[in-house]
Amino acid sequence: MALRSQVVGCGGYLPAKIVTNDHLTSMVDTSDDWIRQRTGIAERRIAADDEFTSKLGLEAARAALDHAGMKAEELDLILCATSTPDDTFPATATKIQAGLGVGRGAAFDVQAVCSGFVYGLTVADSFVKAGQAENVLVVGAETFSRILDWTDRSTCVLFGDGAGAVVIKAANGNGTATDRGILSTHIYADGRHHDALYVDGGPGSSQTTGHLRMQGKEVYRHAVVRMAEAIDAALEANGLTPGDIDWLVPHQANLRIIESMARRLNLPMDRVVVTVDRHANTSAASIPLALSEAVADGRIQPGDLIMIEAMGGGFTWGSALVRW
Ligand code: ACO
Repeated sequence: MALRSQVVGCGGYLPAKIVTNDHLTSMVDTSDDWIRQRTGIAERRIAADDEFTSKLGLEAARAALDHAGMKAEELDLILCATSTPDDTFPATATKIQAGLGVGRGAAFDVQAVCSGFVYGLTVADSFVKAGQAENVLVVGAETFSRILDWTDRSTCVLFGDGAGAVVIKAANGNGTATDRGILSTHIYADGRHHDALYVDGGPGSSQTTGHLRMQGKEVYRHAVVRMAEAIDAALEANGLTPGDIDWLVPHQANLRIIESMARRLNLPMDRVVVTVDRHANTSAASIPLALSEAVADGRIQPGDLIMIEAMGGGFTWGSALVRW
């Protein structure tokens, strides 16, 4: 017998406002062609002025709990992966908890930028395996539109707003890769790469409002190498091969990066869940949003083996292998 973290529900939420590439051409010197060719992005959602990260996260949380058939009062832990919290403190997770109308259990944020959801899954899985929590909500929610420099064409075209969430429940398994639930997570960081992707200010000690700064090529170069390593680590830890994977649900930053991961796994693109074309990069929200979409439309079925990978500012990166 082995304790497993089963994913028993998922849900997503996107703000209503759609901003197309063409719309951005009126703000910066860019083109629909350039954005599509370099990134695969066609449009993104942008939160309304009164929609903060907690509001998006709360909607996704409600959808995931509904899908799981679980009441918020049953949650022992609420995690929110975000780099765009409503406030410096308290944690956005506590605002989501309040929005759900509950006052029990623990709630805190996880900050690992685009790897935030993989980090959040890791924390959730660890709490479950340590017997510290039975039911855990992991939310990825972001409003990157608020930290973009809308005069910088090299970054403002790449991101969007949104939220996704999963509900995790402790269950007994047999300890092999046939178990349903999180089979493994692998997370990494190398803080020496700060300058390649950071926000130049923001909440806390800097006392300035920050904007996202990125050396795109440098991030790209590391992303393809590091995520491939994390994928290999996941397969090796479970004694599996690329041929065992049913679905790749990658972080959605750039279609070219996603395609290169699929090639490495020898997976045809119809086995890869892609949302970057419609959502752009929603950072910690991108993976749970993609998961929710593919579960809702029936692509992902119970028993399917899902490879999840991400890379983000820090640098941080990681993978999770989940049997649905
Ligand atoms: N429209 C038109 N031209 C542009 C734009 C734009 N929006 N942005 C940049 N350009 C120009 C550049 O100025 C440059 O022009 P130059 O040659 O005259 O100097 C040219 O296009 C090429 O720019 P590059 O930056 O070299 O383009 P590249 O092919 O590397 O693509 C991109 C840029 C899309 C950002 C790519 O590097 C990338 O996707 N990097 C990875 C980003 C990523 O994965 N982030 C994930 C983590 S995000 C997180 O954690 C928050």
